[in-house]
Amino acid sequence: MTPTTLTPGLEGVVAAETRLSRVDGQAGELIIAGFPVEELAAHASFEETVFLLWNDRLPSPQELTHFRQALAQRRALPSAVLDLLEAAAQAQLPAMDALRMAAGALSLDLPEGNPQEQALAAVARFPTIVASYARLRQGLSPVPPDPALGHAANYLAMLGGEPPHPAQVRGLETYLNTVVDHGLNASTFTARVIVSTGSDILSAVTGAIGALKGPLHGGAPGPALDMVFQIGRAERAEPFLRAKLEAGERLMGFGHRVYKVRDPRAEVLAEAAARMFQESGDMALYRLARHVEQTAVRLLAEYKPGRNLQTNVEFYTALLLHGLGLEPDLFTPTFAVGRVAGWTAHCLEQQRQNRIIRPRAVYVGAVGRRWADRAPG
Ligand code: COA
Repeated sequence: MTPTTLTPGLEGVVAAETRLSRVDGQAGELIIAGFPVEELAAHASFEETVFLLWNDRLPSPQELTHFRQALAQRRALPSAVLDLLEAAAQAQLPAMDALRMAAGALSLDLPEGNPQEQALAAVARFPTIVASYARLRQGLSPVPPDPALGHAANYLAMLGGEPPHPAQVRGLETYLNTVVDHGLNASTFTARVIVSTGSDILSAVTGAIGALKGPLHGGAPGPALDMVFQIGRAERAEPFLRAKLEAGERLMGFGHRVYKVRDPRAEVLAEAAARMFQESGDMALYRLARHVEQTAVRLLAEYKPGRNLQTNVEFYTALLLHGLGLEPDLFTPTFAVGRVAGWTAHCLEQQRQNRIIRPRAVYVGAVGRRWADRAPG
């Protein structure tokens, strides 16, 4: 019999088993491969987190050294990919488009049919793509990767052209760990659907970038920060946010399909941002953001009672990445620099227990049309 029950947005539908992360939207908890996100994000290096996701355990010291080297050796891009980024910079394309184009071109020097190698290359090279593109777009030469630096430190060095401060490295590392994986979100689902057809990991991560680009998924941090800047002063927060809600607009950085309490990642990132801004000696923007957040949550409860609209990960992402000196257009690509580890881990998991993902649609179109009845002409 043809199933007819429709679940819009597949909300609540269970489509996979995973050992990678557990999102409890009612309790506001996120477990990443067994660890509460608060613990993992603040302590692990990004390399340790990637190893954990791919192997379901933390590495020994020797394994970690080896894994860091394996990633560091694979950072450089084929010259044709740099040419492509140069062309994208000439056309001033959004950074997410440049990342999608370059990710798709990574097959140029990678062996076919080797998922582990593709996964390593994707994780290792995403930062090089984003940082190279950021510099090319400013008319600067890309900074070559430095294999002596860790993953996060090297990304910042390639972006800024100078060695980053340890507080900045810790801030970025905390961010990348926080966003590394998050259940069966839209981009991860996209990646799993692609590999479930027997396709390869590079195709999957390229498709996932496309899914992440949309403002309902990963595209919100830029607008969230714009909103804080537009507000500018604490006393303007309430009238500004009220006007938006009265006009039926959505407040970027608030609301989540799964979390109905505060997203635990928002707290981890708020704390990391506070530490970073404290280090830099300027807490004004951080304090303003806190005030905007509190006001927004209060007004959302007033305008959308019963919806439990709370701060999501994008709000503090914006603040943290801005504090690291990133342009808003690089926020979502930097999210991808972290999330690509989760995408690849899901792809490897899907390949181990594969069944093609193929849901159904309920046909609601016309029936009984006849070709002979079409309008003449
Ligand atoms: N600002 C104002 N109202 C919001 C809102 C927001 N950020 N998020 C949801 N709502 C309202 C909707 O307008 C809707 O109200 P209605 O029933 O009166 O029409 C209600 O809350 C439910 O919204 P819905 O779109 O069904 O929720 P969802 O689970 O499908 O959406 C998001 C989740 C994330 C897409 C949504 O909250 C949103 O658009 N947030 C802003 C963008 C953002 O921050 N994205 C990053 C997510 S990590």
